[in-house]
Amino acid sequence: MFGRRRIEYKTNAQLRTMRRAGVVTSRALDAAVAAAVPGATTADLDAAFRAVLDEHGATSNFLGYFGYPATVCVSVNEVVVHGIPGEQVLEEGDILSIDGGAIVDGWHGDSARTVLLGRPDPADAELSETTRRAMWRGIAAVATGTHVGDIGAAVEDYVREVSGHRFGILEEYVGHGIGSKMHMAPDVLNFRSNDRGPRLRAGMALAIEPMLVRGGIGTRVLEDDWTVVTTDGARSSQWEHSVALHPDGIWVLTAEDGGASELEPLGVTPVPVPED
Ligand code: MF3
Ligand code: CO
Repeated sequence: MFGRRRIEYKTNAQLRTMRRAGVVTSRALDAAVAAAVPGATTADLDAAFRAVLDEHGATSNFLGYFGYPATVCVSVNEVVVHGIPGEQVLEEGDILSIDGGAIVDGWHGDSARTVLLGRPDPADAELSETTRRAMWRGIAAVATGTHVGDIGAAVEDYVREVSGHRFGILEEYVGHGIGSKMHMAPDVLNFRSNDRGPRLRAGMALAIEPMLVRGGIGTRVLEDDWTVVTTDGARSSQWEHSVALHPDGIWVLTAEDGGASELEPLGVTPVPVPED
């Protein structure tokens, strides 16, 4: 998918600029999540996200990407990914993922969170929490592993350990390298594969973004050429962070605390990207 080109290895200075894009992405997502209440439209979330980009002088990497018309994707219920914000009104009990990114001085951030509205179905809450924790296992594997394939192995192992085969892991959509473009080599799978992928090396930045569903992993794209839904109508969750691997360790660029609170319990201490 994003795997045909060579990997872009970043200098510490470049990763530090990516950190600025990551923090803007995180704050814009905070605003979009806060706007996600019953009665709001999905377009309201886009407006909230966009306002934070503007405030920081950042631009959107989603807007205009192959003609994409918004700064975020809002994917509600059976929509897995790439839902276009519009007049759809959010309701209690909805599960939605909000995915967005920012460009600062030419460098990209990309992150997604799942939100549950009102009193959620416990199975939806478990789906989101399993997806979120699986993402953190994948992120930890950037520090503890040797190859990019170790990320997907960690994601899949965690999902199977806690939920058996109740949740499906999408295979058609994968994470990616990120840097001077949003989507770059290498592909970052969310499942075990015989292909171990490239070696994990300092200077890499990876977007890790597992997608789980409460049913089969089959999907189809709607007439708008963007919206991806599950074939069986099952609900889905996605979480995503952009992560830097640098000479001193890993740093989660799109997490305000660099990932410390979630990674410490997994035995990984994130380290800020040093000045060159
Ligand atoms: N951010 C998505 C991903 O995580 C891609 C969105 S494509 C867009 O890789 F066109 F919707 F922006
Ligand atoms: Co991404």
